[in-house]
Amino acid sequence: MAKVLVATVKPFAPAAVGNIKEIVEKAGYEFALLEKYADQSDFIKAVSDADALIIRSDKATREVIEAGKNLKIIIRAGAGYDNIDLEAATEKGIVAMNTPGQNSNAVAELALGMMVYFARNCFNGKAGTELKGKKLGIHAYGNVGRYVANIAKGFGMEIYAFDPYIPKENIEKDGVHSVGSVEELYSKCQYVSLHIPANEETKNSINYELLSKMPKGAVLVNTARKEVVCEKSLMTMFAERDDFGYISDIAPDCMDEIAEKYEGRYFFTPKKMGAQTAEANINAGIAAANQIVNYLEKGDKTFQVNK
Ligand code: 3PG
Repeated sequence: MAKVLVATVKPFAPAAVGNIKEIVEKAGYEFALLEKYADQSDFIKAVSDADALIIRSDKATREVIEAGKNLKIIIRAGAGYDNIDLEAATEKGIVAMNTPGQNSNAVAELALGMMVYFARNCFNGKAGTELKGKKLGIHAYGNVGRYVANIAKGFGMEIYAFDPYIPKENIEKDGVHSVGSVEELYSKCQYVSLHIPANEETKNSINYELLSKMPKGAVLVNTARKEVVCEKSLMTMFAERDDFGYISDIAPDCMDEIAEKYEGRYFFTPKKMGAQTAEANINAGIAAANQIVNYLEKGDKTFQVNK
């Protein structure tokens, strides 16, 4: 009997776990759950007899992958798969997949929620500003970017997007202005919301050269990955521009310095919260379980990310 392990430091909502278990057991597989594990060694131990693995931001390192002697498939229940050692998975003939789109609305709602919170001075009682009429730049127009655009429209924002991989027409049909370069996006928009993945090309790519182009009252919104923002540039921006703010779903490594020097100009969630809703957990969990069953039963490799 194939064994499906759900290993999540940050647990799914209980309903999502129930849904995954039901799908797995209905398919005739064994279900195993490892939540809130204290140490990576617990993960390594648990994966040793699993055929399939469902994770969130948990680190599927080479060590984990090599410990999973029976592993055939790893599903990152979510969008970003920078936490999986794809090379190690490919070497071992393990299929790695994500579940694109399943948690996008949750992340988009958080991005707008943080923007409102920050525009209102973190609800400290002082007069803030409104989002209506402000220019919002969406950096990468994938699933989350599209949801952000749609919600921001409701706020009456003027929306721009840059994505070299998406045809201009696809962006403009959503009532979003497509810009021709990343520099143009940052030059135009007071708010810029990041939706790029973390990879060798994008890490540290949000740098001083881009950020310094932003107009007065610049706010950088990060619900993507902390690694894409160059922290040295961030600190220079804070120092040079007292109108610059940074709001992020996970604190940067330089958080303490920012907190010490730049009160009121930042907001960081204490834990990555973007996908942390019951709905997102259920959507991503069900998709992950179904993708495992479809792969083990029919060899369906839709959403494979290590080709
Ligand atoms: C994603 O890439 O899907 C999000 O960052 C969510 O990550 P999480 O499942 O660890 O909350």
